[in-house]
Amino acid sequence: MARVELQGLVKEYGAVRVIHGVDLEIEDGSFCVFVGPSGCGKSTLLRMIAGLEEISGGDLLIAGERVNDQRAAERGLAMVFQTYALYPHMSVRQNLAFGLENIRMPKPEIATRVAEAARMLKLEPYLDRKPKALSGGQRQRVAIGRAVVREPKVFLFDEPLSNLDAELRVSMRSEIAGLHRRIGNTMIYVTHDQVEAMTMADKIVVLREGRIEQVGAPIDLYNRPVNTFVAGFIGSPRMNFLPCTVTARDEAGVTLADAQGRDLRAAVDGRTLAEGEKVELGIRPEHMHPDPIGYPVEVDNVEQLGGESYLYVHTETGVALTAHLSGQTELSRGGRAHLAIRPEFAHLFRNDGTALPRLRLGELEGAQAS
Ligand SMILES: Nc1ncnc2c1ncn2[C@@H]1O[C@H](COP(=O)(O)OP(=O)(O)OP(=O)(O)O)[C@@H](O)[C@H]1O
Ligand SMILES: [Mg+2]
Repeated sequence: MARVELQGLVKEYGAVRVIHGVDLEIEDGSFCVFVGPSGCGKSTLLRMIAGLEEISGGDLLIAGERVNDQRAAERGLAMVFQTYALYPHMSVRQNLAFGLENIRMPKPEIATRVAEAARMLKLEPYLDRKPKALSGGQRQRVAIGRAVVREPKVFLFDEPLSNLDAELRVSMRSEIAGLHRRIGNTMIYVTHDQVEAMTMADKIVVLREGRIEQVGAPIDLYNRPVNTFVAGFIGSPRMNFLPCTVTARDEAGVTLADAQGRDLRAAVDGRTLAEGEKVELGIRPEHMHPDPIGYPVEVDNVEQLGGESYLYVHTETGVALTAHLSGQTELSRGGRAHLAIRPEFAHLFRNDGTALPRLRLGELEGAQAS
């Protein structure tokens, strides 16, 4: 087990810098998830930690030791990729044992580790099968098993579940979370999947164009995103944004006017704002619901899923909004509606995208309120 520290980590391909000095501490035994849009540098960062990409600048420490110049095999890490190439002509048992045979581990030790990994990953019934006789999820478990048998200090996963169907992803997600609970190793995990990030991570790292935008516990990123980028990235469907102007400030928050001069309120600390300043109010789809005295909108589309509904609407000034309602709705396309935008659920962002501190959180956002 090991703590991983990134200090000013830089990656350049020729003249092109793709990682711009990343500082990050990943605690021993924690589950750290990297998210961010395609091309933001998630895989590059993971591969630099793994020793598969040269580090152009800065320091990488594992268990307190600088490992920049150590080869991948010396770092005590194991990586599981999105596309896992199992050896097709070898049985599951041989696939699991192969890496250990390569480093000339004594046979009895190999047998013990393979048996333990097979038990942990529920692969015992398949040990003598070839990969082609396994399901996708079983194959992915073998790929994880190959990492497990090496007893790495740190596990690195690069979108390991993205090739699996939805049902399998859900079960593999809980298997990986369970594996982490049992063995307690440090894990660093890249994903595009919001639910994976929110449910598996102790800590989410949001990356954008080779820089860290925000690091924190999943629920803290959801409740207190530092800027519009993180606010729009964490949460699905994404947060709605309404352009507004500051009209007044008081102890309980900020009063705003939308483009039509309609009043809105946000429970944020607005002391640093000026009256007349242009801002954006952020409100999550799940925090708007029909309310006779709410904000007027026109309904563009309704999706009824039975237990929940999605409303796609636009405001009088043409801003598109999405509302996520629990249960069913009588609203229909072309109709008018009023949606509550309550101050304690609102986020507020300056023109440069930075968030104003929220003074309190909506009750649905729960126990985190402070
Ligand atoms: N060998 C290379 N030479 C030049 N640029 C590269 C090279 N490998 C990656 N890049 C660039 O580095 C950036 C980060 O790529 P990376 O693969 O880390 O993104 P990612 O966040 O993993 O994206 P995705 O979600 O699509 O997997 C991209 O802009 C990519 O084009
Ligand atoms: Mg990638």
